[in-house]
Amino acid sequence: MQSTLTPYTPFFKLRILTLLLLQLQILPTLTLSPCRTSCGNVAIKYPFGLDDGCGAPQFRHMFNCTTDLFFTTPSGVYKVQSIDYDKKTMVVYDPAMSTCSILQPHHDFVMTDIQSVIIPPSPDTIFVLLNCSIDSPVLNHYKNLCFNFSGHSCDELYGSCNAFRLFHLLTNSTPPCCFTGYDTVKYMSMNILDCTHYTTVINSDNLKGIGPLDWVYGIKLSFTVAETGCERCAGSGGTCGFDTETVGFSCLCSTSMNATRECESLFQLFGTPPCCFTGYDTVKYMSMNILDCTHYTTVINSDNLKGIGPLDWVYGIKLSFTVAETGCERCAGSGGTCGFDTETVGFSCLCSTSMNATRECGPLDWVYGIKLSFTVAETGCERCAGSGGTCGFDTETVGFSCLCSTSMNATRECVDSNGFVAAARGEDERGFGGAGGWVPSEAPYSVGVAFESLE
Ligand SMILES: *[C@@H]1O[C@H](CO)[C@@H](O)[C@H](O)[C@H]1NC(C)=O
Ligand SMILES: *[C@@H]1O[C@H](CO)[C@@H](O)[C@H](O)[C@H]1NC(C)=O
Ligand SMILES: *[C@@H]1O[C@H](CO)[C@@H](O)[C@H](O)[C@H]1NC(C)=O
Ligand SMILES: *[C@@H]1O[C@H](CO)[C@@H](O)[C@H](O)[C@H]1NC(C)=O
Ligand SMILES: *[C@@H]1O[C@H](CO)[C@@H](O)[C@H](O)[C@H]1NC(C)=O
Ligand SMILES: *[C@@H]1O[C@H](CO)[C@@H](O)[C@H](O)[C@H]1NC(C)=O
Repeated sequence: MQSTLTPYTPFFKLRILTLLLLQLQILPTLTLSPCRTSCGNVAIKYPFGLDDGCGAPQFRHMFNCTTDLFFTTPSGVYKVQSIDYDKKTMVVYDPAMSTCSILQPHHDFVMTDIQSVIIPPSPDTIFVLLNCSIDSPVLNHYKNLCFNFSGHSCDELYGSCNAFRLFHLLTNSTPPCCFTGYDTVKYMSMNILDCTHYTTVINSDNLKGIGPLDWVYGIKLSFTVAETGCERCAGSGGTCGFDTETVGFSCLCSTSMNATRECESLFQLFGTPPCCFTGYDTVKYMSMNILDCTHYTTVINSDNLKGIGPLDWVYGIKLSFTVAETGCERCAGSGGTCGFDTETVGFSCLCSTSMNATRECGPLDWVYGIKLSFTVAETGCERCAGSGGTCGFDTETVGFSCLCSTSMNATRECVDSNGFVAAARGEDERGFGGAGGWVPSEAPYSVGVAFESLE
């Protein structure tokens, strides 16, 4: 038998090569929006906008995007953690606010008048006024502004939160606190309220029996969206925004065009420009200038596109190549690899690192060596192996022996303690491995050696 080991890789016949040259000329995007649509991992949609003129004018100048989105109020810059456009809520976090785990210096939460109307804290955001003086209005005249927050108490807050324990420790009493809503802090500053600190808790509806360590601290704002015809604009492919001078609604259609209501399609504006489906020969003989078309695209596998829309076509160019008849098959059949002489550029059959041939590889590329084949004498080995034993021989008599375990050999096959032949176990030694890890060394078959000449 001929060995086909060669230092070269096997020869494969490749007749079709597909090159996908993606989008050779990119069409200018005609609906480019002038408005950014996200900041960090927060999506920005109407009524919000980052760029001036984007979104609803009521929210103008309230947002900054550095690496994250920030919401600015007169009392600070709050990091926006998430916006739920369906529920119309936005969760912000005041990094200067005290929470269960950190006590921060006294400060207020203040919104502009318009913010208080269009994006106030939601009803399920609780403001907790802490370390209040006994003269505080919320303990006296405005007592009814504080409510029973699912049975939670000041003691519980001062007891479970490391940050608030200090209020209790310094006076060795329990300073009053008050669970209230945004309206209280909207009309009264912390100074008037006479409490040194506040914290806010969101999703307060389900906190009965849940301790302050597990509350979510932050402020959930709920926003309203004015009806301005945004849907009509968005439906026409535009982005809702406003004229930065008149602050009137504007439908932003492209970087170069705004509309008052909705975007007109380009075809409506300019009519449908002619186009032409053709083959390679057309563009081979005429440049795009001569053809007087501004763009082209190419589609492959065009035979089966009847009824299939352009969105599902495969764009690219499929090249087909031809292979000259050079006697490559004969060379490959002799174990060589087809190539060419780099100087004469004539065909060359590359046979080994040390030799090339003009047609096919010769004796120099044969594999030298002697292949031995052996015969196995019939000794009943299969019967022994079938019973889980390993075929061997008695080292003294040199007669056949079935090696069953470290402590037992048999003349024919292995039997268990009840005298039954062990169930066939295949040809491995699982029975011994489990018994004690003893695995017989190679079975000393009698081996006959014969020579087989190479072809
Ligand atoms: C369209 O409106 C946006 C936002 O107001 C503005 O930045 C842009 O200059 C306007 N473009 C045109 C062409 O008027
Ligand atoms: C955000 O912009 C406002 C002005 O619109 C500015 O006063 C504020 O400092 C800015 N905040 C950040 C964090 O850049
Ligand atoms: C708690 O309030 C009292 C005044 O009522 C104030 O002296 C004290 O410093 C406050 N505690 C903390 C930790 O700010
Ligand atoms: C607060 O409400 C809880 C039930 O949620 C009630 O058990 C508790 O007595 C109330 N506390 C006060 C002071 O009214
Ligand atoms: C065989 O041909 C290859 C490719 O032309 C060349 O690189 C190599 O040097 C040649 N070997 C000999 C021994 O001529
Ligand atoms: C079984 O046979 C092997 C190989 O001849 C020998 O080494 C071993 O001592 C024998 N075991 C017993 C229990 O006779």
